[in-house]
Amino acid sequence: MHHKSFILSGLILLFAIFAVPGVLADNSCINCHEKLSAFNETEQQFNQIRIKHLARDVPCSLECHATTLSKFAKSNYEQWTKSKHAMFNITCDNCHGGNPGSDVKEKAHAGVLLDSDPNSSVFYRNVPETCGKCHTEELSNFKNSAHYQKLKALRQAPACDTCHVPHEFRVLNVSEFHDLCSQCHNIDMRIAPSDAPDRAIAALADADRLKSEIKKADDAIRFAKQQGKDVSTAQKNLDNAISIRDSLPVLWHSFDLSNFRNVTDSGIKYAQQAQIDSGVPMATPSSPGFGALLSIAGMIGLCLLLRRR
Ligand code: HEC
Ligand code: HEC
Ligand code: HEC
Ligand code: HEC
Ligand code: HEC
Repeated sequence: MHHKSFILSGLILLFAIFAVPGVLADNSCINCHEKLSAFNETEQQFNQIRIKHLARDVPCSLECHATTLSKFAKSNYEQWTKSKHAMFNITCDNCHGGNPGSDVKEKAHAGVLLDSDPNSSVFYRNVPETCGKCHTEELSNFKNSAHYQKLKALRQAPACDTCHVPHEFRVLNVSEFHDLCSQCHNIDMRIAPSDAPDRAIAALADADRLKSEIKKADDAIRFAKQQGKDVSTAQKNLDNAISIRDSLPVLWHSFDLSNFRNVTDSGIKYAQQAQIDSGVPMATPSSPGFGALLSIAGMIGLCLLLRRR
């Protein structure tokens, strides 16, 4: 994120925090869905199974009659309340359509179609365009991917919601993700490339490395500034590294992992050059300390093991 957009989203966030309660009160989808009854614990486990099936492309494995749907609507509402979308006032109607001004169910639901209906805005094949109304850059990168081509042609490819956990709509952490990619990219399914999960993890680890090199460069420049050094060249390289870092989450969605890594590595080079340009000698104080810590941990581990026998 650029500085400007960072400040802007900060402002939007503040606005959202203060303004949402008032705005939300006018949204009938939220008002009514909040009051529906929830799943009990056993039913909740079924809900998890259903979500997994959806990701694997087994359409709604439970009977979708009104009472079940009502409970989904409640649990989806609950997940949604934890999402960044809720914080930014992205309500149900933004993705499902309908009329959020009516508190009569039939009127509010006008145009709201089940996700199994090919005309629904949340039918798997239409999901990228629905999300892309707001996430335009992610969508345009996603359109370049094999995932998007396959999604349009056949069913077995991930859409935005496969990787972003409806209705929390969050970014998966690295371990969740490996399992997810492996659902399709494995030897049995024969969906190339079978090493995609590992390569994806490596690519994101590389992106993390860029972040830590940026941190180091930032510290070095701050230190050089305090000593009255000219940091303009170093700052320029750091700025390049930062803008590369900020472009990565969007670039990711073209699923061209080699290109992703090339771009990341160029960012790492800029950040390292910025460290050199700052003229601050690179300290590595943490490595011996860390080594010592590790061997202490190792010894404690050994003692515990011996005591258990
Ligand atoms: C007066 C209550 C009420 C309002 C207002 C309402 N809903 Fe619902 N909604 C329900 C109930 C109850 C269900 C469970 C299924 C059923 O009974 O039709 C449901 C189900 C759903 C479903 C599941 C699929 C379906 O079509 O049944 C979606 C999606 C949905 N609502 C979206 C919305 C959106 C979007 C809005 C606002 C534009 C909204 N709802 C407003 C009560 C409401
Ligand atoms: C950011 C977009 C987005 C928002 C916001 C959103 N949904 Fe959804 N919803 C989806 C997608 C995509 C699916 C299809 C995938 C799935 O079933 O999980 C879906 C599926 C559902 C279903 C499953 C039933 C069906 O056939 O459609 C229900 C119920 C539902 N949403 C209710 C809600 C409610 C209630 C809200 C508001 C509290 C809401 N959704 C907000 C995107 C959204
Ligand atoms: C009406 C606009 C709108 C729609 C439609 C929409 N989003 Fe969002 N989304 C936002 C806003 C606003 C944010 C919060 C600001 C940001 O992070 O850019 C956000 C944030 C996110 C995030 C980041 C969450 C985090 O924790 O960092 C993800 C992931 C996401 N959306 C996925 C989706 C998916 C998937 C869909 C479609 C099913 C979708 N969005 C549809 C507006 C929208
Ligand atoms: C195969 C999995 C996958 C698919 C499909 C996918 N994403 Fe993502 N998305 C990710 C991962 C992983 C990240 C975090 C990337 C990173 O940190 O570099 C992410 C990040 C995001 C973010 C946060 C961006 C930010 O600035 O932090 C948004 C918003 C988002 N995706 C929206 C979408 C939308 C919209 C679609 C569909 C057009 C989509 N995603 C499809 C895996 C996926
Ligand atoms: C629902 C199934 C599914 C899931 C989940 C999935 N993929 Fe894919 N992926 C596919 C399909 C289908 C192709 C196209 C294979 C082909 O062209 O033969 C593909 C292709 C790819 C390619 C090759 C792109 C190219 O342009 O050649 C990469 C890289 C990739 N996936 C990465 C990932 C990563 C990383 C994840 C997890 C975040 C993931 N995939 C999750 C189905 C999936």
